[in-house]
Amino acid sequence: MPSTCVVGLQWGDEAKGKIVDLLCDRHDAVVRYQGGANAGHTVVVDGTTYKLSLIPTGILRPGITAVIGNGVVIHPPALLAEVERLSGQGVDFKGRLLISDRAHVILPYHLAEERLTEESSSTADHLGTTRRGIGPCYKDKVGRVHGVRVGDLYHPERFRSHVARIVEYKNRLLTAMLPDYTPLDGPTVADEYLGYGEKLRDYVADTTAWLHHAIESGKSLMFEGAQGSLLDVDHGSYPYVTSSNSSAAGIAAGSGVPTRHINRWIGIVKAYCTRVGGGPFPTEQDNPVGERIRQVGREYGTVTGRPRRCGWFDAVATRHGARVSGATEVAVMLLDVLSGHESIQVAVAYEDKHGKRVTDFPADLDDLAECRPVYKTLPGWSEDLTKARSWNELPATAKSYIEFLATELKVPVSIVSVGPDRRQTIHVT
Ligand code: GDP
Ligand code: IMO
Ligand code: MG
Repeated sequence: MPSTCVVGLQWGDEAKGKIVDLLCDRHDAVVRYQGGANAGHTVVVDGTTYKLSLIPTGILRPGITAVIGNGVVIHPPALLAEVERLSGQGVDFKGRLLISDRAHVILPYHLAEERLTEESSSTADHLGTTRRGIGPCYKDKVGRVHGVRVGDLYHPERFRSHVARIVEYKNRLLTAMLPDYTPLDGPTVADEYLGYGEKLRDYVADTTAWLHHAIESGKSLMFEGAQGSLLDVDHGSYPYVTSSNSSAAGIAAGSGVPTRHINRWIGIVKAYCTRVGGGPFPTEQDNPVGERIRQVGREYGTVTGRPRRCGWFDAVATRHGARVSGATEVAVMLLDVLSGHESIQVAVAYEDKHGKRVTDFPADLDDLAECRPVYKTLPGWSEDLTKARSWNELPATAKSYIEFLATELKVPVSIVSVGPDRRQTIHVT
């Protein structure tokens, strides 16, 4: 059966959660393949709001299995709190959540390590992360010596000695570097995490094998990206990125499923652009236009509550996202937020510091920071779009805007979203 990928093409928060929720009913499992509790996916179903962070959005649809793949980094207390919160909202987890035994675990020293840079006296060290321990955990994964995987929680003796060794090392480092650091006690940390392991035991599985068995028996999978393609550690606006391959490039590594099994590649974009945290943002509108978008679009971070930086649609950056993620169709979200602007701008190119026209997203941070957007100005619309349910109910200028984005991205638009609810969706035929 055909499988689908849903991935953000910008800097995250493109409303991936809404599209996963909308389309996953035709699938048997929804798989997260990277990231962790830095993600915040909001879904509104019949007026009820659900916030998902580590747990795949598919958990909201009865009958679908939610799979946390090997590429995800898991903070067990955050995961258990999320299970409890969603259970309290009536979500049934029994037999429906699978956690990879190969996924890496976030420990308390990872959160302290993140403070080393995020609270450093040198502001050049600040990336503006979500402070969920994501970067330090991925560092330990790649560094190998101090990595802890979910499966380790089920080998208590080995786990205790591994954690004792790591905690001793991290205590030495962090005591020297962080003035207010209270050294951790290895056995206490080990016991705490073995306790989490017991609570999670029923969910833990070899998800790679499970996914392959699912494919062999004709099941259909949906891969749910977290963050966005421009936050990808290889392809994004490095170093202001997250620590995983958050474009579709992460799917095979982070789930164990080769991407030849996927035949639908849906790139999610906002009708404008936002970003949280540091880093260059050529089309940023740090002015009343950006403020208006922030207020109308309620652009405040789901995870940290930080105001999101807002700006015009950046076709150079988003085209790069569409390329590296291989989008074959695009869903344009939050179009309703742009109502009431007399005109709307789209960056169709950049101009570098020498006045040269740039149409490919620059790799270098300073080059990107020095780029000035070259805008195309399009007419806006005043109508409220939130009640539109078909393409023909959209004003002509809104339709032209969508068509313009498709041309710039070189990818057709298949879905337009005009509000958070499932019903506020237009399928473009
Ligand atoms: P994600 O991380 O990509 O899943 O996106 P977030 O959930 O962080 O941010 C998207 C926000 O926009 C959520 O609060 C959604 O409920 C909301 N949303 C989704 N689609 C639309 C839309 O078409 N219009 C408006 N106004 N809000 C939307
Ligand atoms: P969803 O899945 C938007 C950003 C952070 C920071 C950078 C690195 O909801 O789209 P990290 O904690 O990952 O080391 O932070 O990445 N970031 C996100 N921005 N949406 C997200 O997730 C994000 N996850 C991380 O703000 O700039
Ligand atoms: Mg989000």
